[in-house]
Amino acid sequence: MDEHKSWAVKNEAVLEDLVTLMGLTAEEKALLASLKGKAEGVTTRLVDSFYERLLSHANTAEYVGDKVDRLRKSLTDWFIELFAGNYGQEYVQSRLKIGKTHVRIGLPVRYPLAMMDVVIKYGEEVANQCDNPAKVKEAFNKLLALDIAIFNQAYEDAQLKHLAEMVGNERLARRLLTQESQI
Ligand code: HEM
Repeated sequence: MDEHKSWAVKNEAVLEDLVTLMGLTAEEKALLASLKGKAEGVTTRLVDSFYERLLSHANTAEYVGDKVDRLRKSLTDWFIELFAGNYGQEYVQSRLKIGKTHVRIGLPVRYPLAMMDVVIKYGEEVANQCDNPAKVKEAFNKLLALDIAIFNQAYEDAQLKHLAEMVGNERLARRLLTQESQI
């Protein structure tokens, strides 16, 4: 199996790689920033739907427990920050830290990824309150895709790190994760 250029991208560079890939334009950033107030207007319902679903499923409810008030605030801030208009290193680092929090509590990645549909629904609601919903949706979807990628990166980083420690080097760990039998 060949080496891939992406394998050499590490730490801070991973985040730059993703932001570059998404190609958010200055116009898209400004558009999202202009909608912060409207985003704030949907957060109560977004957070209600989000935790109603997590709490009605035993496998997810056990992670939430009595932390629900704190988590409601975290999710509200997280959603509003999607409309920050500035998506540099600091933004991406803070999103990576959120991903790592979920790794640390032993939450399978399928749950945060599956919950993105609630976020999409309310992002669309914000977009539909604007003159140009299609443009807003396009920009919002990029931001959400960036978040999904970062969530996933946090999980992959943890798996790779532990496997590399076990087998002695990262290259071998990457090959094992691709299930290559020929090493
Ligand atoms: C769209 C998906 C999700 C988003 C955006 C999200 C967002 C957040 C944020 C912003 C925090 C605070 C993190 C920090 O301060 O480092 C957090 C913590 C937490 N999240 Fe999520 N979350 C998501 C999915 C889930 C799911 C599906 C569960 C459980 C089934 C969950 C359970 C928790 C718990 C238990 C914490 C607190 C961890 C701790 O500090 O001990 N999250 N989440």
